[in-house]
This record gives sequence, C-alpha cells and structure tokens, in this order.
Amino acid sequence: MTSVRLEYGGKTVDLPVLRSTTGEECIDITELRAKTGLTTFDPGFGNTAACASKITYVNGEKGILRYRGIPIETVAEKMTFVETAWLLIYGRLPTMAEMKAFSTRLTNNELLHEGLLHHFDAFPPNGQPMSILSAVVNSLICYSPEIMDTTDEEAMRNAVAAIISKVRTIAAFSYRKAMGLPFVYPDPARSYCENFLHMMFSIPHRPHQPTPEAVKALNLFLMLHADHEQNCSTSTVRIVGSAETNLFSSVASGVCALWGKLHGGANVAVFEMLSRLAKGDESVESFVERVKNKQARLMGFGHRVYKTFDPRARILKKAVFDLLETERADDPLINIALKLEETALNDDYFKERHLYPNVDFYSGMILRALRIPLNMYTVMFAIGRVPGWIAHWREGNEGARRLVRPRQLYQGAVETPFLPLDLRQDEEWDNEK
Ligand code: ACO
Repeated sequence: MTSVRLEYGGKTVDLPVLRSTTGEECIDITELRAKTGLTTFDPGFGNTAACASKITYVNGEKGILRYRGIPIETVAEKMTFVETAWLLIYGRLPTMAEMKAFSTRLTNNELLHEGLLHHFDAFPPNGQPMSILSAVVNSLICYSPEIMDTTDEEAMRNAVAAIISKVRTIAAFSYRKAMGLPFVYPDPARSYCENFLHMMFSIPHRPHQPTPEAVKALNLFLMLHADHEQNCSTSTVRIVGSAETNLFSSVASGVCALWGKLHGGANVAVFEMLSRLAKGDESVESFVERVKNKQARLMGFGHRVYKTFDPRARILKKAVFDLLETERADDPLINIALKLEETALNDDYFKERHLYPNVDFYSGMILRALRIPLNMYTVMFAIGRVPGWIAHWREGNEGARRLVRPRQLYQGAVETPFLPLDLRQDEEWDNEK
C-alpha cells in the first residue's frame, strides 16, 4: 500500500493513499487528528475529497465528464433525460422493462395533492420561482407523509419517482401562477419533457404541441445538468442527508444552494450580462477590460474543476445553433456571446487562469429558444439536477453512514472577560454600530 509520511512535533505518521478507479488519488487523513493532534485546512474544499463516490467522474484538466462511466457526449446523443435519471440513481443502464416501469411510476406520481395547490395562492405574483420550488418541494411530505419513509426498496422507488415527476409539475405551476394563467394538469400520454412544455404553454382548449426539436433540446438541457459530482448543491444535499433528513427536504436544500449566482444562478447572470451588452451601452472589449480589472465577473466562464472547456458547454453551443434554425433564428444574444467568448479565449488574463466557458454560458440561449422566461432558468437547472441529488443522497446513506460535521481553524478571542450590560461604554462598541 502506498502511503505519505508526515513528520510533526517529533512524531512520524504514515498516511495511506487511497486508490481511485481513474483520476486523482487521495491521502487518507481519517487518523491524522488522533495520531498528531492536527486537522487540515482547505477553505472551499479545493483539495478535499469529501466522500468516495461511484456516480460521476469529472476530469477537469482533460474536459471529461462521465455518468456511471458513460461519456457525456454519448449520453447527450443517445439517451433521454428519464433514462439518464435511472442510470444515475440505479447505477447502470435500464432495460426496456425497467424503463417502462419507471415511466409508469413517473406518470402515476405526476399530480400534486389538491391541498398543495393552495400554497401557490399564498405566493405573490412576482414571487421568486426558486423560493416557491424549494418551499413546495419541502411541503410535499406534509401531504404525503408516507413518501418520507424510504427504508425499503419499493418505498424508495416510489419516492424517487414522486420527486422527479412532481418537481416538474411544481415548476410549471409556479410559472402559470406567476403569469396569472390557470394550471394545466399533466397529460399522462406525453413524455416527461413534452409534458413539461405542455404544462407551461398549453391554454384551456388550445393544447400546446412542442416541436420534436424543442423536446429534444429540453431533454439535452436536462441531461447535461443531471449531475456533476460534489458540486455546491450536491454537497449540500449530501450534508443535509447525513443528518438522516428525508429525501424531499434534502432536495429542497439543494434547490436553495443551486440558486446562488456562482452556482446554478449563473445562467440568469449570463443572460443579464449578454442583454446589457446587446443594448450597446458598453462594448464587449470595454466589459472584458472591467472584468480583468476585477470590477466585473465574466459570468458563465471559469470553473472550480474544469481548467479547459467544460464538455457540456461544447455540446450546448452546438445545440443552440441547431435549435435556432427551427425555433428562433434571430437571437441577437448569440452574436454577443460568440464575440465575448472569442475575446476572452484570446486574452492572456483568461488564458493564464485557465478560464473557459462553463455549462451556463450557452444554456440560457437554449432556454430562450424554448421560450422559457428568465426567472425560470435556475428552476430548469434544478429540474435537471434532481436525479443527481437523489443519486448522491442514496449513496451517502448507504453502508456506514456518518454525520457530516467539519472542523475549523479557530482564530477568535481566546477567553473574553464578561462585562455586565449596565457597565458597557458606548465607545467600546463602535464597531458593532
Ligand atoms: N471572470 C473573471 N475572473 C475570474 C472568473 C470569471 N468568471 N472566474 C475566476 N476568475 C479569476 C479570479 O478572479 C481569480 O483571479 P486571481 O488569481 O487574479 O485572484 C482566478 O480566476 C481564480 O478564480 P477563483 O475564484 O479562485 O476560482 P474558483 O474555483 O473559486 O471559482 C467559479 C470558480 C466560482 C465558478 C468562478 O470561476 C466564477 O465566479 N465564475 C463565474 C460564475 C459562474 O459562471 N458560475 C457557474 C459555475 S458552473 C456551475 O456551478 C453550474
């Protein structure tokens, strides 16, 4: 067994190196504290493997992404979102019979409890859809408490189908509510993605029939967002799940983590950035200069793991061009995006820091072509990421589960003398005002 030797305070410890099946290997520090009294310091966890996983492999230097060993390019070309969800959650490609059974479960779970519909009335018309999504996902268990119990495999299969299916219905209903439109109930005869577009855009007595290209593009969008190993929201779901919190509340916490603009919220920030530049108040060159001077951030660029092109960005860029041919041939934002990408990729600031387009750079243009409104962009990401969250929640709860509870490097006061309230002078507390 390979190990790493550490010498500290007159002690020598050999720390084993854990083997991966492919990619980076890890120093096992589980006994470090007991043997040396030391802990490790790694803000942002840039050097820390928080768990062992068999779900998704990312190689950030080579731009490789695989779901359960299957390259993302193959997933994108040959699979559907529902099939991808099954692959991620159950660990292998489903058979035809398994796919049919899964689809039936999704259909059986597509409706929301009628009582839950009143929750939508309580939100203001311009309520944030991500806030509505997390609140309603968390509320599902109040109406169907039985889905909280996932201790046996049959119950787990139902909970998996319930969350994947209902998240789509919740997302569409939150949009309809915001638009002042009546809810359109899911149509069991339609596929997962077609059904979502139907719930979004049909109106009573005028069913919306999305084009096959639109359905294909939505499948692609969701598949490319389905998992990305230990990202911020997935780590959140794993941490919350480690406290034995139920699947639904753990997923609701993932929705909240995804909302941030350095994570899933970046797809909204990219769109806002491109729209501002399209207005012409500032040139692409001057914006890039501001980015280099740290007065702005080029949204949709850079990634903690990828130091080359994000493979998902490549696939999405091509898909945008394919889709624009059929859905919206005249999007001015595409030209701004292309110019911005070219300017950045040829600039030393971005080259030296290995900053390339990430999944969010082109994803908004797919959504725009599908006529998904801006405030739903991160919700769309969430629908796609649900299978990944479920897969990680399950994996984190298999075998020897351990509550996630990091340590810290404490740098605060050692021991502060207590002063009674009536003796404290105002000037001593200036910093707190
Ligand atoms: N624009 C300009 N400069 C950037 C950018 C960017 N988008 N991203 C990183 N940098 C710079 C940093 O300022 C830093 O420069 P310095 O060395 O001069 O200080 C250097 O590159 C390293 O950046 P870090 O912030 O250390 O990289 P980190 O791994 O922490 O951040 C992140 C990754 C948050 C994604 C960052 O690249 C970013 O903010 N990108 C824009 C937001 C975005 O697109 N997020 C979506 C990510 S994909 C996803 O979550 C689905």
